[in-house]
Amino acid sequence: MYIIAGSTGTTGSAIADELVKTSDIHLIGRNEEKLRIQAKELNCGFTLLDLNATVEPRLFTENINSEIEIKGLVNCIGSILLKPLHGTSTDEFNDVIKTNLFSSYYLLASFSRRMKNGSSIFFSSVAATKGLANHEAISAAKAGIEGFVRSAASTYAKDNLRVNAIAPSIMQSNMSEKILSTESAIEISKNMHPISKIGDVNDILPVVKWLLSDDSKWVTGQTIHVDGGLSTVKTR
Ligand SMILES: NC(=O)c1ccc[n+]([C@@H]2O[C@H](COP(=O)([O-])OP(=O)(O)OC[C@H]3O[C@@H](n4cnc5c(N)ncnc54)[C@H](OP(=O)(O)O)[C@@H]3O)[C@@H](O)[C@H]2O)c1
Repeated sequence: MYIIAGSTGTTGSAIADELVKTSDIHLIGRNEEKLRIQAKELNCGFTLLDLNATVEPRLFTENINSEIEIKGLVNCIGSILLKPLHGTSTDEFNDVIKTNLFSSYYLLASFSRRMKNGSSIFFSSVAATKGLANHEAISAAKAGIEGFVRSAASTYAKDNLRVNAIAPSIMQSNMSEKILSTESAIEISKNMHPISKIGDVNDILPVVKWLLSDDSKWVTGQTIHVDGGLSTVKTR
C-alpha cells in the first residue's frame, strides 16, 4: 500500500490517480468532504489530519491495519507564504513550519517502523536552495525538509527505507493559483527559468513514480530539483 498525504491537492490527487491503477492506496487530508468523495471514487481508505489542529500521535494505528505492508509514503501537504520577514507574524511563520516541516516529521515518525524496504518522498521547493525575496518562512521550512531527509535517510538505511525530496519551482496548482492569476505574472514567472516554462504535475509524476520504484533502489537522502534549472543555472 502507498500512503498519499495532501491527496486532495493538485499534486496529491494526480499521484493518487496514478498509483491507484496498480496498487492499494490510503489518503490523508484535512477536508473531510473532499476526502470522502475522493476515497469513494478511488475505492480506498482515508485518514483526516489537519496540521493546524492538535494531532494524535497514534492516529494511524486504528485506520491502517498493522498487517498491511506499506511500500511508500508521499507527503504532498504544503503551503506558500510570500512576505518579507518583518511583515510575517509569529503565527504565520509557525503555520508555514507546521504545514510543511512538522507534517513531514509527523508522517515519517508515524510510518517509518512499518516501511522496511519502502520509499518515502517529501516536497521541498526551489526556495530552499535559491535565495528568493519574500520567501523566508517557506525557505526555512523547505530547507528543514532537505536536512531532515538526509538524516532520516541515514537512520533508516539499515531497514532499506529510502527517504528523498523533490524540489519543484513554481508549478500550476491550487497553491499557485493566486500568484499566477494574470498573464503578466505568468510571463515573469516563466522567464525566471532557464527553461522558460511554469511547471505542472506532469513534470513531477515521473519523478515520483521513479522514486517509488525499484529503478531508484540505490537513491536515498537526495533532493531532486525539478525546476527548469532555476536553482543552479544562470539564465542567458
Ligand atoms: N505549486 C507550486 O508552485 C509548488 C512549488 C514548490 C513546492 N511545492 C510543494 O509541492 C507540494 C504539493 O503542492 P501543490 O502544488 O499540489 O499544492 P496544493 O494543491 O495546494 O496542495 C497542498 C495540499 O496540502 C494540504 N494542506 C495544506 N495545509 C494543510 C494542513 N494544515 N493540514 C493538512 N493538510 C494541509 C491541502 O489540503 P486542501 O486540499 O484541504 O487544501 C492540499 O491537499 C507542497 O509541499 C508544496 O509546498 C509546490
